[in-house]
Amino acid sequence: MPATSPIVHFAVLGCGRIGRMHAGILARLPRARLVSVFDVANATASETAHRLGVAKAASIDAVLNDTSIQAVLIATPTNTHVDLIIAAAKAGKAILCEKPIDLDMRRVLACEREIAPYPTTIMIGFNRRFDPAFRAIRDRAQQGEIGKIEQIIISSRDPEPPPTGFIAASGGLFRDMTIHDFDMARYLVGDIAEVHAFGSVLVDQAIGEAGDIDSGMITLRAKSGALVHINNTRRCVYGYDQRLEVFGSKGMLLAGNRTATTVQGFSTNQTGAGDLLLHTFIERYSEAYAAEVDHFVECLHRGITPLTNFKDGIEALRVAEAALESMRTGRTVRLD
Ligand SMILES: NC(=O)c1ccc[n+]([C@@H]2O[C@H](COP(=O)([O-])OP(=O)(O)OC[C@H]3O[C@@H](n4cnc5c(N)ncnc54)[C@H](O)[C@@H]3O)[C@@H](O)[C@H]2O)c1
Repeated sequence: MPATSPIVHFAVLGCGRIGRMHAGILARLPRARLVSVFDVANATASETAHRLGVAKAASIDAVLNDTSIQAVLIATPTNTHVDLIIAAAKAGKAILCEKPIDLDMRRVLACEREIAPYPTTIMIGFNRRFDPAFRAIRDRAQQGEIGKIEQIIISSRDPEPPPTGFIAASGGLFRDMTIHDFDMARYLVGDIAEVHAFGSVLVDQAIGEAGDIDSGMITLRAKSGALVHINNTRRCVYGYDQRLEVFGSKGMLLAGNRTATTVQGFSTNQTGAGDLLLHTFIERYSEAYAAEVDHFVECLHRGITPLTNFKDGIEALRVAEAALESMRTGRTVRLD
């Protein structure tokens, strides 16, 4: 659906941690105009609307019936995504929806079937594909710089656990957090053939009592034969640890952590001491979130399929479900 106007008019649904950030990006993006925001928590919507000088919509229906709005950015809790995607697709809106699509593959596939008669542009928020360093690694690997990709190591460690209340509704570490890493693996080496996962509760017993794990190590074999190792934890004392190593027959590409500045301190008791790591996903991936939204607008202008589409949302969830099954059964799970 190529956008007819040079400026795409948006509404943001959900103004929590990620929604208010997306709203801020849209308010600054030259080719987008944020028309309104909506949140079931009235005060939350008011705060964002007031800060950005946009309208606070009265309801989801008010957004969907507003013919001046061409696209919605869905940043509500995961269990609301499917219903909102269906309603927005039926209303003819283009959709940028946060990950994951849902926690249940049957609901995701039913959603895919239900929106099929309503062709619109749908993008899923796998923002890490838009990180400048990770994207450069992917592009350089594609250009053959390191030969055939053989091994990948993805380190993704959160600084501290989310509130236990969030854990209970999150769908678990693999579907909520590792899903980014599963998508990164697919971005680099394509579809996944086999999954073996281990999980432990090492950080916070309350996470275990909520039925989840807080530490995970997962090995994937891609259909290409490449092997991928992912390590995750919900607590990392030195900050938000996000690194990527891609090893191939002709070399290796490595993206390290990000600090506020590159200044290093040298003294009688330390050498090369750097700043702390950027602490939150909002800080670490700020360029990626902005580039993600810009890419979506570009897709609407050019009438092309986004880099992270509905199928990518399905496939990442498929790997997450296989990882869960592997952890529970102790077996390697095949995906084909
Ligand atoms: N891509 C990323 O890096 C990333 C990071 C964090 C969260 N997320 C995803 O974004 C989504 C939101 O996460 P969050 O951390 O911002 O959650 P949050 O709880 O901070 O915010 C969600 C907001 O949605 C509102 N809301 C709930 N139901 C609604 C409805 N039906 N209509 C409108 N508003 C509604 C809530 O009142 C709340 O303000 C989740 O799917 C999560 O997985 C993605």
